[in-house]
Amino acid sequence: MVEQLAMSIVWLLVLMIFCSGFASNGASTTNVSTRPDVVKLGAIFSFDTLIGKVAKVAIEAAVEDVNSDPSVLGGTKMKVTMQDSNYSGLLGLIEALRFMEEDTMAIIGPLNAVTAHILSHIANELLVPLVSFSVTDPTLSALQYPFFVRTVQNGLYQMAAIADMVDHYGWREVIALYVDDDHGRNGITALSNKLAEKRCRISYKAPLVLDSNRDSITDVLVKVALTESRIIVLHAYDSWGSLVFEVAKYLGMMGTGYVWIATTWLSTLIDTNSPLPSGTMDDMQGVLTLRMYTPDTELKRKFVSRWSNLTSGRTSKGPMGLNAYGLYAYDTVWLLAHAINAFFDQGGNLSFSNDSRLTQLRGGDLNLDALSIFNGGNLFLKNILQVNMTGVSGQIMFTPQKDLVHPALEIINAIGSGIRKVGYWSNFSGLSVVPPETLYTKAPNHSNSSDKLYGVVWPGQTTQKPRGWMSMTCSLGTA
Ligand SMILES: *[C@@H]1O[C@H](CO)[C@@H](O)[C@H](O)[C@H]1NC(C)=O
Ligand SMILES: *[C@@H]1O[C@H](CO)[C@@H](O)[C@H](O)[C@H]1NC(C)=O
Ligand SMILES: *[C@@H]1O[C@H](CO)[C@@H](O)[C@H](O)[C@H]1NC(C)=O
Ligand SMILES: *[C@@H]1O[C@H](CO)[C@@H](O)[C@H](O)[C@H]1NC(C)=O
Ligand SMILES: *[C@@H]1O[C@H](CO)[C@@H](O)[C@H](O)[C@H]1NC(C)=O
Ligand SMILES: *[C@@H]1O[C@H](CO)[C@@H](O)[C@H](O)[C@H]1NC(C)=O
Ligand SMILES: *[C@@H]1O[C@H](CO)[C@@H](O)[C@H](O)[C@H]1NC(C)=O
Ligand SMILES: *[C@@H]1O[C@H](CO)[C@@H](O)[C@H](O)[C@H]1NC(C)=O
Ligand SMILES: *[C@@H]1O[C@H](CO)[C@@H](O)[C@H](O)[C@H]1NC(C)=O
Repeated sequence: MVEQLAMSIVWLLVLMIFCSGFASNGASTTNVSTRPDVVKLGAIFSFDTLIGKVAKVAIEAAVEDVNSDPSVLGGTKMKVTMQDSNYSGLLGLIEALRFMEEDTMAIIGPLNAVTAHILSHIANELLVPLVSFSVTDPTLSALQYPFFVRTVQNGLYQMAAIADMVDHYGWREVIALYVDDDHGRNGITALSNKLAEKRCRISYKAPLVLDSNRDSITDVLVKVALTESRIIVLHAYDSWGSLVFEVAKYLGMMGTGYVWIATTWLSTLIDTNSPLPSGTMDDMQGVLTLRMYTPDTELKRKFVSRWSNLTSGRTSKGPMGLNAYGLYAYDTVWLLAHAINAFFDQGGNLSFSNDSRLTQLRGGDLNLDALSIFNGGNLFLKNILQVNMTGVSGQIMFTPQKDLVHPALEIINAIGSGIRKVGYWSNFSGLSVVPPETLYTKAPNHSNSSDKLYGVVWPGQTTQKPRGWMSMTCSLGTA
């Protein structure tokens, strides 16, 4: 009886293998045979940055995971070549051009907004999607950049969250302290628009130079101290942002009455370099910061528990905690894998042709005529934007405006030697103390109940909400 059953199972299996082989042979006329053995992707970012070093590990892990599961790409292997742009926009540009000479289907990166703006123009012309897991600059969502795809939350939403916080606490005016490049300026423009929707405004804009140091920060903060507003939004880079707190503390600007709201750079610093030196934590007592929120799922928990294995032996460049960008970088590779699969399923070809405008430039030392146009670029872009998958960062799907769905952030308060979660913000329901995904099933509700956020310990170790401004005579007295 048992033998008979086993026998029929064997026959069933043989039959299934035979049928599926037969079926796929039948359908494979054009589509399956056009699948190459290897597809090439490029990645450009600075390996030494907090975001870059974490992303590198995550991307390598994702490529390995994709390639070890033949069902994802139907036997095709994915090859991601990573280039270190080493903080240089020019290097990033040249490396991107080199990828475009090498029949690359898509480029992962770049890390910063300045390079993204330049590369997006080239991506548009050569039809090679530029897929960034780190650039949050809202202006890159413009229709001008169809081949720029953002696999991280649009920075517009963190500015909306800050505007909601300012309104929630009943303040009206803020000071914007920001790095004076595309990332900083465009972020602050978005903040200004979002504040205006709440009838609030930026009363003073204080730009910081790209490679700020103690002296340049001091010059700017001295002017900030002379203004009336005590609400300071700091939109900087993780490489030197905490130096602003150090100088501010020295100038007496981290005391009672001040409010500091740091954008996601600070949570990235805390997550990656955790635990921060106690001196650094001391400087930022009472600061609020935002962290991109990714729901707590089984997939994410598994990845988080793999993290120490993935990074063991790589910590020569300092501690390497997992940050939100690492999750988005991991999912970016999977997103591309799914899109590549759909592309070949729909009969896409991996063919490239020379740009006739560039071949006419022949003669110079720049080998520009080697740049090629990806003939299937438009179809591939469409496949990318149509992906709907669940990754370690949650659901990966794009709105018609090319933004990731369900943008949400956590609001964090730096207290003592650590951090404390004060609440959440989501595009769906605004500020809340419950995780956003519990609200998605309910009707959107932005109404202002009193328990929208937990209590904050403000600078100066007080739980009393600062009023947000100081009259000039007082500020001169403390300066
Ligand atoms: C990155 O650039 C700096 C100078 O800007 C240089 O000293 C360093 O060697 C470069 N690193 C790599 C990996 O190219
Ligand atoms: C970490 O690596 C060790 C040894 O290779 C293995 O036994 C363990 O299961 C791994 N842990 C995770 C979470 O992958
Ligand atoms: C092959 O491509 C055609 C369109 O070109 C599509 O309709 C068909 O479903 C594809 N077959 C498979 C097996 O994907
Ligand atoms: C694939 O290439 C063939 C010829 O090489 C062409 O006829 C076909 O239209 C191409 N398919 C797509 C989707 O570009
Ligand atoms: C494109 O141009 C390069 C360099 O001039 C040349 O080697 C290559 O054969 C050309 N490819 C096509 C498809 O014409
Ligand atoms: C995306 O996937 C989720 C989960 O698999 C599903 O519930 C949802 O309907 C899908 N959405 C679209 C637009 O396909
Ligand atoms: C955020 O909310 C606005 C208004 O409800 C909506 O138009 C927009 O599409 C939402 N964004 C995302 C990414 O869901
Ligand atoms: C919105 O939330 C408030 C407070 O939680 C509640 O009182 C109100 O009924 C909700 N409105 C809707 C339309 O669900
Ligand atoms: C929000 O709060 C303000 C004052 O606290 C009140 O005037 C307003 O009606 C509230 N709005 C909603 C939608 O509950």
